[in-house]
Amino acid sequence: MRRKLAAGNWKMNGRYADLTQIEALCAAHDGAEADLLICPPYTLVAAAAALCADHALNIGGQDCHPEAAGAHTGDVSAEMLQDAGASAVILGHSERRADHAETNERIHDKARAAYQAGLLAIICVGESLAEREAHSTLEIIGAQLSASIPDAATGENTVVAYEPCWAIGTGLTATPDQIGEVHDFIRARLEDRFGDRVGQSVRLLYGGSVKPENAAEIFAVSNVDGALVGGASLKTNDFSPIIRALEAEANPS
Ligand code: 13P
Repeated sequence: MRRKLAAGNWKMNGRYADLTQIEALCAAHDGAEADLLICPPYTLVAAAAALCADHALNIGGQDCHPEAAGAHTGDVSAEMLQDAGASAVILGHSERRADHAETNERIHDKARAAYQAGLLAIICVGESLAEREAHSTLEIIGAQLSASIPDAATGENTVVAYEPCWAIGTGLTATPDQIGEVHDFIRARLEDRFGDRVGQSVRLLYGGSVKPENAAEIFAVSNVDGALVGGASLKTNDFSPIIRALEAEANPS
């Protein structure tokens, strides 16, 4: 059984005052029936991790450099994130692929750095609207999976997040059928490459306009093990119902 994961990506949002949201999440969700993660901007990682030290909520970064240290102005390494109290890192988010021209190969190297530092690598894949309209979604996702996931991937060190670019921050959500098709494809690809045991143990998250109103429907889709949530993770009042919908899917009563 794969443990469900609700992950929040704060992107370039959040100031010290917003740590109250982290405190509220900690207070509301200790003992959650799912793993919980917030990835705030670098500036808040250490403070957020300190607040969560005795709670179920985990803290992650939103990117890391492939090397452990060196002359790379403005970059942060996986080791530094781990040192600051992070236990995970998002890699290959479509905004970084677009804004920073990140290639699958570079994401692969970052994932290896994350493994080295003991961080969970959340590797993002997803097609653009033009790629979907050209019916090349699965081909694109397949290529991203092959080139960006290292051979050393396991269910313990890797999560794959499917985030269709056209559904991010747009209010457009992929339909359950669209999500199911891609998640089943990702699962099959992972099983082919890593064997059934590892392939079935890697958790698959959906991301793209996940909200309290659509969370339950998305979590019911096959091979959806949780969500990577952007805008709706910024406020506890929005993220908490998403967490509860995931717990309900994990433990139907
Ligand atoms: P939104 O939930 O704001 O659409 O963002 C999704 C995302 O990119 C999470 O990484």
